[in-house]
Amino acid sequence: MERLHWIFKRRSIRRFVDRPVEKEKVELLLKAAMAAPSASNRQPWRFVVITRRELLNKLADIHRYAKMLYEAPLCICVCGNTEAKHWVQDCSAAMENLLLAAANLDLGGVWLGVHPNAELEAAIKEVLEIPAGYAPLGMAALGYPGETKPAQTRYDEDKVEYRE
Ligand SMILES: Cc1cc2nc3c(=O)[nH]c(=O)nc-3n(C[C@H](O)[C@H](O)[C@H](O)COP(=O)(O)O)c2cc1C
Repeated sequence: MERLHWIFKRRSIRRFVDRPVEKEKVELLLKAAMAAPSASNRQPWRFVVITRRELLNKLADIHRYAKMLYEAPLCICVCGNTEAKHWVQDCSAAMENLLLAAANLDLGGVWLGVHPNAELEAAIKEVLEIPAGYAPLGMAALGYPGETKPAQTRYDEDKVEYRE
C-alpha cells in the first residue's frame, strides 16, 4: 500500500493558487505523458500547452465542467491522430501518466473530458487551432493546489473475479 501511495494520492484538484507552473515542471509533465504505452508504440499524441489567460478563459466559457480554468494557470490539451486505430486508449494512457506526474510534483490537476462530445471537440479545435487530423481527447487543468483531498484506493473486492 505505502509503496503505491504515489498512485493513490492523485485526486481531482479543481482549486488553484495564483502561482504559475515552472517551465521545468511542464516539461516533466510532458515527458511523463509521452512515456505512456501506445498500440504498436505509435505514440499518436500531440500536446497543446496553454498558459495564455485569454485562451484559458475561452476554454472555461465553452466547457460546462471546466470552470476551474478561470483560475488554473495552466491547461494541457491531449490530442490524438485520429488515423491511429487506438488513439483514444493511447491518449488516455498519456493523460493518466500526466496526472500522476502532476500529483507527484506537488501540483494539482483534473481531467476534463472532451472526446467523444463532437460539438465540444469542434469548439476546442477551433479555439486552440488544433492541426487537421488531430482531435482533442481531453484537457488537464493544472496548477499549484488550492485544496487538498485525501489519498484513496477505492479498492472493491466485489469488482474482482478470480479464475484459479
Ligand atoms: C474521461 C474523464 C472525464 C472527466 N471530465 C471531467 C470534467 O469535465 N470536469 C471535472 O471537473 N472532472 C472531470 N473528470 C474527473 C472525475 O470527475 C474524477 O476523476 C472522479 O470524480 C474521481 O475523483 P478523483 O479524480 O479525485 O479520484 C473526468 C474524469 C475522466 C476520467
